[in-house]
Amino acid sequence: MRLGVNIDHIATLREARKGSEPDPVQAAVLAELGGADGITVHLRGDRRHIKERDVELLKATIKVPLNVEMAATSEMKAIMLTILPHQVTLVPEKKDEVTTEGGLDVILNQNVLPDYIRELEVSGIKVSIFIDPDKEQIRAAHKIGVKTIELNTTRYSECKDRECEKKEYGKLQEIVKYSKKLGMEVLAGHGLNYRNIQLFRNLKEVEEVNIGHSIISRAAFVGLERAVREMKSLLNFNL
Ligand code: PXP
Repeated sequence: MRLGVNIDHIATLREARKGSEPDPVQAAVLAELGGADGITVHLRGDRRHIKERDVELLKATIKVPLNVEMAATSEMKAIMLTILPHQVTLVPEKKDEVTTEGGLDVILNQNVLPDYIRELEVSGIKVSIFIDPDKEQIRAAHKIGVKTIELNTTRYSECKDRECEKKEYGKLQEIVKYSKKLGMEVLAGHGLNYRNIQLFRNLKEVEEVNIGHSIISRAAFVGLERAVREMKSLLNFNL
């Protein structure tokens, strides 16, 4: 299972003082040294943490793939067609949300998404859709030609006890199988941490997890390189 490290919160800290540190590019380099297989940032409409310039600098600096989460707006598409990151992940975006709330509603957006995705893909950008673990949504994504999905793991991550975790894990297991049967690449993320990854990592067909908050939080105490290395070793525990 590959590890994509979301470094938005390095920029959140920088924006707390509207200064220049900590620097997301430095964070990305340290994450790479710790074994990150990819770097993820979310360029929000309100630019509350990551800015366009960060995305440009990251694209020019890092050696691993850069994945940009973004809302499916024409503004974002124009920016990405200029910067050309390795991958974009389409997410829903609400102005007042603290973090991404739920997956993109593919059924609701099925008329606009195909052209939007195609335009990015013909420019060589891989497109993933952040999606709830819901068969109808996944079937709709498959129908419009989506090749890669990132399953929203919030329900699993928010479990407070083992019983809930096992139940949600079981549901995810079924959804992963279903998605793979349709031929899609399956990624996952949201709320994963050093504890709940230990059951989650058994979902071997998930090719990549995207983890941000728990890694950046741990990095405050042990340093980013080590925090990433520890998560990597948990992911590869029983290889
Ligand atoms: N995947 C997506 C689509 C997200 O929006 C986020 C949060 O930015 C993550 C993964 C990472 O979630 P967390 O910060 O809870 O690990």
